[in-house]
Amino acid sequence: SQNPAPSKCVGPEYRSSNEKPTATVSTEVSYENVHILPQTPQLIALLTMIRDKNTNRADFIFYSNRIIRLLVEEGLNHLPVVEHTIKTPVGRSYSGVKFEGKICGVSIMRAGESMEQALRECCRSVRIGKILIQRDEETAKPKLFYEKLPEDVAERWVLLLDPMLATGGSALMAVDVLKSKGVPEDHILFLNLIASPEGAQNFAAKFPKLRVVTAFVDQGLDEKNYIVPGLGDFGDRFYTM
Ligand code: PRP
Ligand code: URA
Repeated sequence: SQNPAPSKCVGPEYRSSNEKPTATVSTEVSYENVHILPQTPQLIALLTMIRDKNTNRADFIFYSNRIIRLLVEEGLNHLPVVEHTIKTPVGRSYSGVKFEGKICGVSIMRAGESMEQALRECCRSVRIGKILIQRDEETAKPKLFYEKLPEDVAERWVLLLDPMLATGGSALMAVDVLKSKGVPEDHILFLNLIASPEGAQNFAAKFPKLRVVTAFVDQGLDEKNYIVPGLGDFGDRFYTM
């Protein structure tokens, strides 16, 4: 299945459209619980690097990490905050906010583990659980092998990590695991780098109360259920190629 690829003039705002190149940008989705990162020149340039089949592993890791950092920073904006007023060293008060509640990360192994470092950099000593789900290479159906989650996961906001959402099978299975451990659906935030339109829609429709933050919704899936144009196998490119 394939959507027509939307395109947009990309470049700094002070430049007029005819001075800017056109690039393919994210497909929009009509689910209000799916948040797509702003399609800035920086994000599009980073995505261009990691989509390129000629990008070597070191560069793939470097540029993926930059996008993942943007996802984590944006994801944190989706967690609730409460009023918090402090005193500054010059004796004035400042009415600010602080995060409410405890969080943890849960990565869908293997590729999701690539997102743990950025989460640790933003949330000091954050607890991280793991769920090992692998897609069958022939059928693309997910299989659950292992899970290890913080004991009090049900009392935490969960940042679920997986860079690729293709059919959505793996992410659906991971959310079922979290819900079976007592995590309320509306306490789950799924951070994702590239989604297919069908994966994003299946997932958002099945779990209307959780939130998805993604960098890009792509055109579709190919006959092997790979995302297109996509970037190939994320786990292989990040860990082994
Ligand atoms: C990839 C990816 C997702 C899943 C997406 O993992 O990281 O977990 O496929 O596909 P889906 O939406 O159709 O389920 P894979 O099972 O290939 O394992 P890996 O992380 O070890 O590469
Ligand atoms: N997993 C990946 O790494 N890439 C895809 O395109 C689909 C699943």
